[in-house]
Amino acid sequence: MTELLRIHSLSLSADHKKILDGLDLTIAEQEIHALLGTNGCGKSTLAFVIMGCEGYLPATGTIVFGNRVINDLKIHERARLGITLAWQEPARFEGISIANYLSLGSPSADPARYLQRVGLTPDEYLPRMVDKTLSGGQRKRIELASVLALKPKLAILDEPDSGIDMLSMNEIAAVIEAFKAEGAAVLLITHREEMALVSDRASQLCGGRIVFSGTPSNVARHYKARTCIVCDGNECGNG
Ligand SMILES: Nc1ncnc2c1ncn2[C@@H]1O[C@H](COP(=O)(O)OP(=O)(O)OP(=O)(O)O)[C@@H](O)[C@H]1O
Ligand SMILES: [Mg+2]
Repeated sequence: MTELLRIHSLSLSADHKKILDGLDLTIAEQEIHALLGTNGCGKSTLAFVIMGCEGYLPATGTIVFGNRVINDLKIHERARLGITLAWQEPARFEGISIANYLSLGSPSADPARYLQRVGLTPDEYLPRMVDKTLSGGQRKRIELASVLALKPKLAILDEPDSGIDMLSMNEIAAVIEAFKAEGAAVLLITHREEMALVSDRASQLCGGRIVFSGTPSNVARHYKARTCIVCDGNECGNG
């Protein structure tokens, strides 16, 4: 198993409040890794730090991606290395065909293939415009297809099951399979323990650090059992 991402001792504060506090996390190439944590525990913040978003400079820690320390790299440089983030609240592009939308980041990509991967018929969807006639679920799939089209080495999916028209567990599982088939590793961010079961390995975030890592079923059980060593289950258990 080749290591793709190694985060060591990552800390970040905002408004004098510690959000990440000595976080360690490792993801292998092509691994589907679920990150489980309750609302407000810092999952999206971690995603922004890995992606290198402005304003998310860690106070301590190193982020190694494919044997290279990327702490000092800008967001576009990290994107070029193969890191991509599907935002919890995706940008609302409008007035562009789906075919063109899927080719924006990678003109040589075959948009039909990525639509198929997320369960949308290319003949029907390629010529359609990205606009309000698409349902939230269709919109979400198109966003995920656009991430696939970038051929990422690591795709960070921030709560792909959130939103008004939630994708079902089976739909999410199919999308995860699509990332696997394209050779990407996935950091799958969620607060629902059943979602973690589609992953290869999982970690639980609480108090700004990883409190438990292991098989998806063990982590889901730990998350539900309110036995967190950091908060005694007062903050991060949902059982
Ligand atoms: N720029 C910021 N300035 C101050 N506080 C922030 C900032 N960004 C996030 N926070 C705080 O950091 C904590 C973690 O937020 P974050 O959005 O990372 O949580 P999350 O786990 O993604 O939550 P959710 O499940 O609701 O998406 C929250 O308490 C939030 O209010
Ligand atoms: Mg979030």
